[in-house]
Amino acid sequence: MSDKSERHGLPRPLAQTRAIDPFIVMDVMGEANRREAGGEDIIHMEVGQPATPAPRAARERAQRALAAERLGYTEALGLPALRERIAGYMTERYGVRVGPERVVVTAGSSAGFVLAFLALLEHGDAFGLPSPGYPCYRQILKALGLRPHLIETSGQGRWMPTAADIERLAADGAAGLLLASPNNPTGTMALGPRLAELAQACERQKLWLISDEIYHGLEYDAPAETALQHSEAAIVVNSFSKYFSMTGWRIGWLVVPEALTRTIERLAQNLYISPPAISQIAALGAFDGLDELEEIKSRYARNRAMLLEELPRAGLESILPADGAFYLYADISRYTGDSAAFAKTMLRETGVAVTPGIDFDPDRGNSYLRLCYAGAEHDMREAARRIAAWLKAQ
Ligand SMILES: Cc1ncc(COP(=O)(O)O)c(C=O)c1O
Repeated sequence: MSDKSERHGLPRPLAQTRAIDPFIVMDVMGEANRREAGGEDIIHMEVGQPATPAPRAARERAQRALAAERLGYTEALGLPALRERIAGYMTERYGVRVGPERVVVTAGSSAGFVLAFLALLEHGDAFGLPSPGYPCYRQILKALGLRPHLIETSGQGRWMPTAADIERLAADGAAGLLLASPNNPTGTMALGPRLAELAQACERQKLWLISDEIYHGLEYDAPAETALQHSEAAIVVNSFSKYFSMTGWRIGWLVVPEALTRTIERLAQNLYISPPAISQIAALGAFDGLDELEEIKSRYARNRAMLLEELPRAGLESILPADGAFYLYADISRYTGDSAAFAKTMLRETGVAVTPGIDFDPDRGNSYLRLCYAGAEHDMREAARRIAAWLKAQ
């Protein structure tokens, strides 16, 4: 068939685009929303987002800007004042000195991954991803003609890779490692000297280290370290979505070695022109709302403590006490070998929406569920009650 006749039929995307799987959590959310709109009493534990709005200081700043400012395009790398503020935050929080010229403001960390992968990698390169992990890493890599190289981690190792994994990764010819600590879906972290060991192993093996620090600020025991404390070459991805409670504003940032800034600027100019102006202004305000954010975090801590007590009693005994983020990753292998069907039935019969582990781990995910506890405390209690009653009947 000629190209022309094909054009009259359905579009035929690139093979690499056809290989993209759905982001299952978004599909579960769609189904939960449809049920809610139909009058069912749904509790959302599927999507990883705070139940709270942006901090008041962020919203007020945005309201003033809406009334008084033009809100045109900004520079592709972001508003200079926001780049400066983020650089200052990195110093306040971690004690690392990062100049604003290394900060790139992005449309959510999601855009940051695309920019980082395109800036660092060549077509066909493989990139190491600990599994279970955030599913979009795999899909973004595939969409860009790159290859996810999954590294199987274990609960005993807090679902984190080891220095030996990194040596194997290098031997297999991969270009780098993407690490999230706290991790999604498990909430576990590279504790103690672990992050330093991993960062040093990447430097030794000349692998890029991309550190997804989107759940920083949400730790319940030891504070998270930035990879930049251990490697100047690390690329940090972060976002206002989680700790700052601003998912829908679509705003995040990268910290990159200065030599990469211009490459990323050229990409950002062409791909996105600039991050949303209103969200950048709101993000500047968010830094004045840290007390409110700590208050929200203490709610997560109470939800986490309650669920770590209630869920094992309900029959979900195998859950690591997650160190951070707002997720629990529960072993459901005594109930099912099909986490998607299990989650679907649970939603239908209890109204509690959760995400099947298969979204995060294509090999072992059928034995797990991810539960997000960022919701209101009374909802989380009610969810625990419904899950317990339902599991008893399985
Ligand atoms: C580990 C991780 N990284 C990145 C993202 C993307 O977030 P955003 O694009 O809102 O910054 C998410 C969203 O859930 C996530 O869990």
